[in-house]
Amino acid sequence: MSMFVFLFGLWTLSVEGLRNNVCNRWSDYSNKDFSPFCFYNPDVGANSIQLAERYNYQIQTHKVITEDGYILTVYRIANSTTSFGIGLQPVFLLHGTISSSEIWMQNGLESIPFVLANIGFDVWLGNTRGNYNSPSHADANITPMEYWNNTFDDLVKDVPAVLDYIAENTNKAGEIVYIGHSAGALEAVAYASDRPEHAKKNLKAIIGIAPAVYLPKEQFMVNLVRLILRFNLVKFDIKSNVFHEICTTNVVTISLCRTFVYLLFGNSRIDDPAQFIVTVRTFPDRVALKPFVQYIQFADSGEFKKFDYGKTANLMMYGQETPPKYDLGRITVPFHSFIGASDTLVTEQNCLKLHNELNVENSLRVIQDYDHISFFTANNTHDMFLVPLLKLMERLRT
Ligand SMILES: *[C@@H]1O[C@H](CO)[C@@H](O)[C@H](O)[C@H]1NC(C)=O
Ligand SMILES: *[C@@H]1O[C@H](CO)[C@@H](O)[C@H](O)[C@H]1NC(C)=O
Ligand SMILES: *[C@@H]1O[C@H](CO)[C@@H](O)[C@H](O)[C@H]1NC(C)=O
Repeated sequence: MSMFVFLFGLWTLSVEGLRNNVCNRWSDYSNKDFSPFCFYNPDVGANSIQLAERYNYQIQTHKVITEDGYILTVYRIANSTTSFGIGLQPVFLLHGTISSSEIWMQNGLESIPFVLANIGFDVWLGNTRGNYNSPSHADANITPMEYWNNTFDDLVKDVPAVLDYIAENTNKAGEIVYIGHSAGALEAVAYASDRPEHAKKNLKAIIGIAPAVYLPKEQFMVNLVRLILRFNLVKFDIKSNVFHEICTTNVVTISLCRTFVYLLFGNSRIDDPAQFIVTVRTFPDRVALKPFVQYIQFADSGEFKKFDYGKTANLMMYGQETPPKYDLGRITVPFHSFIGASDTLVTEQNCLKLHNELNVENSLRVIQDYDHISFFTANNTHDMFLVPLLKLMERLRT
């Protein structure tokens, strides 16, 4: 009997895996297994290594240890005809929060890391401490309470560790281009203002894609985070394909899924229905919740500053009652942004505020109809995002 259940389980799993799972039209998701507009896409749920191999790219796994002992997984990519370490200019890509390196590699051969590798860049992909790709710590006895006890200021320590590692392994200090999405850009801004000399030594430029530095007080995602924080959890960890399930089950759940995602990220209506499902499948990745306490502090105060522990503890931590601000005027590295006109989390107004505080060369490009994740999901990413990004990368070539 148990053998039968086991075999039946295997059979359902294999059938599940081969069924059509993405569709070119929203209306077909309710009939995805039989509609000719739907197809099986092995990218759905695939990890970085599988994605690279599937598109015939070479991928190396590197481990980087931060000053506070977190072990990060960093992937390095080259195309099939290029050897690693031949002196190409490095580019480092960092995902946003509750995400992972996979998000960059899900647009097939048009994925940014693959395209950059083909035009002569040495491509490195980061994974923030604690996500499913970077679960380890140098201290094997660290308790979960300690492991997840990270403010945003702590996780910014990932950045210099990875940049030092890349600079050392490529001999290209000063030439690295940093591309960060959302919180991945926020970490770059915090690092570059906190350690301007280190940043100048290593980076050629920072490109922020929807850089979430100044956040709105009232926005669906911001309010949802406030709600989640009331549960006093140390981490957010629902490893499941919950989005994929909801977003592909039937017309009702699909409509709910789209409404929810648009409430989170902005109301873009130009998503490619097949691409949208591949991208949301990466969410949510595992993440510490303490940084979110700090993101809410950013949203409430309108200031980008160190963690606010309260007056007394601040005095002990910082020698002053209020936490010190990240002074964007100290940034010494050119900063270029791409934002979406329909992004409710990172608005044009808030991004302008960030740019107005910079004393370095900077540029801001607003893409019509894009929300917070359209850079990965829109039906026109080639023309509206990839082409201008590559043009900028050509300018930043050393
Ligand atoms: C592979 O990458 C190298 C180095 O960037 C480049 O010269 C070559 O054209 C690429 N090959 C393809 C097929 O794009
Ligand atoms: C978390 O970190 C703070 C500040 O570094 C420290 O005061 C606190 O005791 C830590 N809590 C735990 C559970 O390790
Ligand atoms: C993208 O989607 C929008 C909304 O469905 C549609 O009007 C537009 O024609 C699509 N563009 C492309 C290039 O498919």
